[in-house]
Amino acid sequence: MTKEPNDVTITRRISMTVNGERHEADVEPRTTLVDFLRGTLGLTGTHVGCEHGVCGACTVLWNGKAVRSCIMLAVQADGAELKTVEGLADGATLHPIQQAFLEKHGLQCGFCTPGFMLSIYELLGRTSAPTEEEILDTLGGHLCRCTGYQSIVEAAHLAVEKMRTR
Ligand code: FES
Ligand code: FES
Repeated sequence: MTKEPNDVTITRRISMTVNGERHEADVEPRTTLVDFLRGTLGLTGTHVGCEHGVCGACTVLWNGKAVRSCIMLAVQADGAELKTVEGLADGATLHPIQQAFLEKHGLQCGFCTPGFMLSIYELLGRTSAPTEEEILDTLGGHLCRCTGYQSIVEAAHLAVEKMRTR
């Protein structure tokens, strides 16, 4: 029996570091980064919402920059250093940003939360004393259907404090 062209699966070998751990895998070039993280690496803390780069639920850090992993391909991350929400806590000890969300009730269902936290992480990597405008600008890139946002803003402010006094 002859093989139809559509039966051929083309893959490419990629390698990347995720949360400090090296990974290598064969992926189809069309695989999105979020599908790779969730499906291949089992890092399901990165969520899939709109799949259009709008809601921010799929945000991860790419060489230190917050990016939307639903509109990036896994092959683009070849050689990159990534951080996902799983890389925030130190064992059983929550990261200060996670602790701030906990203390300020910055989440309800938690679907949007990993994305918010990683964007705040990126912001605090750039400046330890962000302005109100910078905080709101960072949070403004994310959608939450549950909290009404005020508690998230308060969590971000507390995260700033916690990181400063760490
Ligand atoms: S799922 Fe990627 S931005 Fe919404
Ligand atoms: S906490 Fe439910 S979507 Fe934000």
